[in-house]
Amino acid sequence: MSQKTYNILKDAKSRALIDDETYQKWYKQSIKDPEKFWGKHGKRIDWFKPYTKVKNTSFTGKVAIKWFEDGLTNVSYNCIDRHLDKRGDQVAIIWEGDNPYDDKKITYRELYDQVCRLANVMKSNGVKKGDRVTIYMPMIPEAAYAMLACTRIGAIHSIVFGGFSPDALAGRIVDCESTFVITADEGLRGGKKVPLKHNTDLAIEIAQRNDVTVKNVLVVQRTAGKVEWFADRDIWYHEAVAAAKPDCKPAKMKAEDPLFILYTSGSTGKPKGVLHTTGGYLVYASMTHEYVFDYHEGDIYWCTADVGWVTGHSYIVYGPLANGATTLMFEGVPNYPSPSRFWDVVDKHQVNIFYTAPTAIRALMGAGDDHVTKTSRKSLRTLGSVGEPINPEAWEWYYNVVGGKKCPIVDTWWQTETGGILITPLPGATKLKPGSATRPFFGVQPQLVDNDGDVLAGTTEGNLCITDSWPGQMRTVYGDHERFIQTYFSTYKGKYFTGDGCRRDEDGYYWITGRVDDVINVSGHRMGTAEVESALVSHDAVSEAAVVGYPHDVKGQGIYCYITLMEGQEGDDTLRKALVAHVRHEIGPIASPDKIQFSPGLPKTRSGKIMRRILRKIAEDEFSALGDTSTLADPGVVDDLIANRQNKK
Ligand code: WT7
Repeated sequence: MSQKTYNILKDAKSRALIDDETYQKWYKQSIKDPEKFWGKHGKRIDWFKPYTKVKNTSFTGKVAIKWFEDGLTNVSYNCIDRHLDKRGDQVAIIWEGDNPYDDKKITYRELYDQVCRLANVMKSNGVKKGDRVTIYMPMIPEAAYAMLACTRIGAIHSIVFGGFSPDALAGRIVDCESTFVITADEGLRGGKKVPLKHNTDLAIEIAQRNDVTVKNVLVVQRTAGKVEWFADRDIWYHEAVAAAKPDCKPAKMKAEDPLFILYTSGSTGKPKGVLHTTGGYLVYASMTHEYVFDYHEGDIYWCTADVGWVTGHSYIVYGPLANGATTLMFEGVPNYPSPSRFWDVVDKHQVNIFYTAPTAIRALMGAGDDHVTKTSRKSLRTLGSVGEPINPEAWEWYYNVVGGKKCPIVDTWWQTETGGILITPLPGATKLKPGSATRPFFGVQPQLVDNDGDVLAGTTEGNLCITDSWPGQMRTVYGDHERFIQTYFSTYKGKYFTGDGCRRDEDGYYWITGRVDDVINVSGHRMGTAEVESALVSHDAVSEAAVVGYPHDVKGQGIYCYITLMEGQEGDDTLRKALVAHVRHEIGPIASPDKIQFSPGLPKTRSGKIMRRILRKIAEDEFSALGDTSTLADPGVVDDLIANRQNKK
């Protein structure tokens, strides 16, 4: 395969913190002697009590992962207090509202004040170290305050993306038995209101029926829209914070004390509560933020993610603030009020580092170059991509049109579970190939294995595993360590299995090919097909459902649903609409089915197992290559499926 390589060492604006030689040297050291390497870099954050032990990790047996275990630190201290002397008046957060006329700058000193007050509000309402606090917020500075206030007192936050439904929110409140919720009256995205408080009220009712009582709801006033009020439970954020004391001592936390839970989808069952801990996570988030984005003192940095996803945790809040950066937080969407919004914001705030998702790039590419070229974008130096494979066309457009051939693109591969970026180019050190996440970050050892677990060497393609721990790795599934072991360390014994397929080329570059399990990636949002199926079968008309992903021009993958109906039901467009509404209600708008095919039966083996391979092929409109169908209980089903397929090209 002929492949274009971009030598950004030569033609980019990168200020290159390190060069290729340094990368090679550090990488070798990090693998040869992780104790020494991380022992040194662990000091990039401040410790109340320095660690003497660096790494104590095992991927076998009970899978115990501990980093810096005897050290004491605090995340909010590292993200705020330690910067006050030097940069108390520097802007910590630039907030850009949904409406372009709405923005705000928060200095590190103001951040300290806000976070301390909120921490005191939480404390005075009985929130203690180890308690779980659910955050269901729009992209407003208070979301960052809430995260940092939790870390200040040692409470564990669990952020639920504002696009999730009351049911999904309830499930997450119940799973971690959260008794304190922080939300807003309404969210605002693309000019549309999201009824966050109303959803929270509904979720709390559902949680109550599942024996979890939420004691308090702290409500930020964002739109001043009408909300129902429960006086014995609800607290206005602005009133409580105004009355609170402006100083709060940071709790001394052990490196392995839980920092946050973040729910993510897997191939089976309910979403898992991914648990990250304090010390290792922060070291890893801050180090990757600095080196991957080539972050320099004074840079304006913008990651367009939502704090409801891990990208927002590590690369809007914790990594940048630990580094004393100015981080931009954007409430809106890429195409409101126009498709030039991103670039208008870049010019307005003179953004140097810009990090977004391929789905946004593809959508903006579709809107035409004019929306980009009419803006300056001169401040840009590094561009980043995350969340799904970036197709070379989108990469080229991002590089040529957005970056004007001057900005290296860091295609960063990682996962909720990994806490931070694992495979990525480093600006100034790595030659780029469009579509490749290139090489492992320091301390990361990727390995490709075949389906039997045999290690594949050289230029090859297989299942991506990581053979040893890095500090940002998740430590357990909240409340279910057995599930942690089963999900990640049992497919290939003694290795962390990522769930991704991957190719390694002749230069040792890694090319992520996508999930090899029943997880799909829709607009960079990760979803278990089993979750969508279970939402569908909870509708009265549905007897059985099978969900697969199929290639989608903008979203990366679309959601294709095969459905068999209950006796007497008719599969028509009215029912299709009802099912879409039902899934949105059960999970949220991000899970909206794109295609629904009604079918008298699903292709099953004689033992009753649905043959998803066949369903995937038909959804892709590639039915000439269905492979062996001889094991099907009723091969006739396949003809009907093909005849009525919903994705004819
Ligand atoms: C899955 C993880 C990482 C934060 C956002 C998503 C896919 C992620 C890339 C990339 C190809 C990517 C993988 C991974 N993915 N980044 N640069 N190239 N694929 O986190 O929701 O936990 O999803 O996203 O399939 O397993 P997540």
